[in-house]
Amino acid sequence: MSAFAAVRKAMNAGVPGIYNALGDLSQFYGGKRYLNYGYWTQGVDTPGEAADELVRLVGRLAELAPGDHVLDAGCGFGEQDFLWVREFGCARIDGIDLTPMHIESAGSEARRLGLQGRLEFSLGDATELRFSDASFEKVIALECAMHFNPREKFFAEAFRVLKPAGRLVTTDVAYSTAHIDRKFVRSRGVGFVREILFAAAIDRFWQIPKSNKYDMSRYSGLLREAGFREIRIENITAKVYPGFCRCLREFAATRPLRALDRWLLGDFARVLEHYPTYYSVSALKPAVSTPETAGPR
Ligand SMILES: C[S@@+](CC[C@H](N)C(=O)[O-])C[C@H]1O[C@@H](n2cnc3c(N)ncnc32)[C@H](O)[C@@H]1O
Repeated sequence: MSAFAAVRKAMNAGVPGIYNALGDLSQFYGGKRYLNYGYWTQGVDTPGEAADELVRLVGRLAELAPGDHVLDAGCGFGEQDFLWVREFGCARIDGIDLTPMHIESAGSEARRLGLQGRLEFSLGDATELRFSDASFEKVIALECAMHFNPREKFFAEAFRVLKPAGRLVTTDVAYSTAHIDRKFVRSRGVGFVREILFAAAIDRFWQIPKSNKYDMSRYSGLLREAGFREIRIENITAKVYPGFCRCLREFAATRPLRALDRWLLGDFARVLEHYPTYYSVSALKPAVSTPETAGPR
């Protein structure tokens, strides 16, 4: 099968199709089974360390504590859940994901470590949660809500399954064109159109619905409409993409890749550095429900 036909086949199979095609990236993450860009703070040098730092940042924002029952929506291989149990002492984490391969792998690792019962992984869609109302202290979506179709359906579901005073935390990709002004376009020169087209192709490949592409003021508005309050949003792009792109380029330069793959990885890094922006988000389900914060009917 040609590379083009393989990409088409993966895309036609939706989110599980592309993540099956992507496979396990533990070689890139130094043996860890992450699928995120990481948080590149001082002293952090490798994708695996950066991913651990992103997971710790989310743990702090969620105020994870012993006794917490946590829902990790879009858990991937569940690597972050093992860290949250180990370092934050969460009582129980339910991880759900659309990709069967991720769930099978996370579940067998939990069994291998004797953590079944404390870490439960199951297939599920973040926009249609099978959990009862008010089941969790915390709901987390680590670098995956951009896929949820649509994201606001997940916000409503997260609000429903959270207990009063529970917290939702996401790290997420936003697609605002606010930073693309004339000066920026001139600085990109003739490559601008090619970069924009490639960025659009990447988003199609990653199954990012068009309806999820908006700026963070709309993001915040949708959280409010779902009933959330105390919404805190931080732009952490500068601590996410530059470090990841540096390592991606090093990885591409030192592996025996086909010329096309090396070129694609280089272009992917260039697009990441200039177009999307990356945010951490935390929002509270009020302890006392008022008609204004009762969430959608
Ligand atoms: C970029 S990966 C992040 C995985 C993990 N959170 C991590 O940081 O390594 C996005 C994940 O979201 C999952 N996903 C996408 N859409 C989903 C949905 N509607 N419901 C549940 N999981 C979904 C994918 O299968 C994939 O595992």
